[in-house]
Amino acid sequence: MTVPVLTIDGPSGAGKGTISRLVAKKLGWNYLDSGSIYRSLAIALLQQCVDLADESTIVRVAETMDLAFECGDALVVKLNGIDITAQLGLESTGNTASIIAVLPEVRRVLLQKQQDFRQFPGLVADGRDMGTVVFPDAKNKVFLTATAEERARRRYKQLKEKGIDANLACLIDDIEARDRRDTERATAPLAMAENALYIDSSNMTIDSVIEDVLNLIR
Ligand code: DC
Repeated sequence: MTVPVLTIDGPSGAGKGTISRLVAKKLGWNYLDSGSIYRSLAIALLQQCVDLADESTIVRVAETMDLAFECGDALVVKLNGIDITAQLGLESTGNTASIIAVLPEVRRVLLQKQQDFRQFPGLVADGRDMGTVVFPDAKNKVFLTATAEERARRRYKQLKEKGIDANLACLIDDIEARDRRDTERATAPLAMAENALYIDSSNMTIDSVIEDVLNLIR
């Protein structure tokens, strides 16, 4: 029997993480945050001061990094045995992840690591190419988006709540640049799968997005 998969793709800051986590909890399914795999590689490269133009070294680091996801009350990610959870959410980590994610060889190496998360009783997979490349046979697919302004506003609020200084105009610029890189790359660009449900969450509450996603599964 194949393990059911729900894919939730969309641009940065659309709320995929929050929605996917809550839906996975409601269904009792596993959860894959594929962005955290690209982010972990970015941290490994930043730690080792790897030149981001040096593709063969980047691929070697991707092949040899030892990643462990420990799911307790909160997710803990360990890279080569060291807890990197706190660095995963940094803007610099996300931007570096987006830069190295354009490399086809990197995507090839990270593909299996993502597919390994497909385990019973089911998987909610969040990312950019979950429905198009990583789990193309998934029965249920969602494309979750929101305007760049709204996504930047949400990010601004999150940063402020953490006591981190932020500038809304800069955040909008960053989000638009990231969207361009993720959408325009040649390999596995951010795209809506043919049979995906399109949800624009700009004016929606978290609960109503979850309701729409659960209705799709039902
Ligand atoms: O979802 P996120 O913001 O954590 O992802 C960080 C970057 O990783 C994103 O800008 C592009 C890359 N990424 C990707 O290319 N494919 C995925 N499935 C997930 C993330």
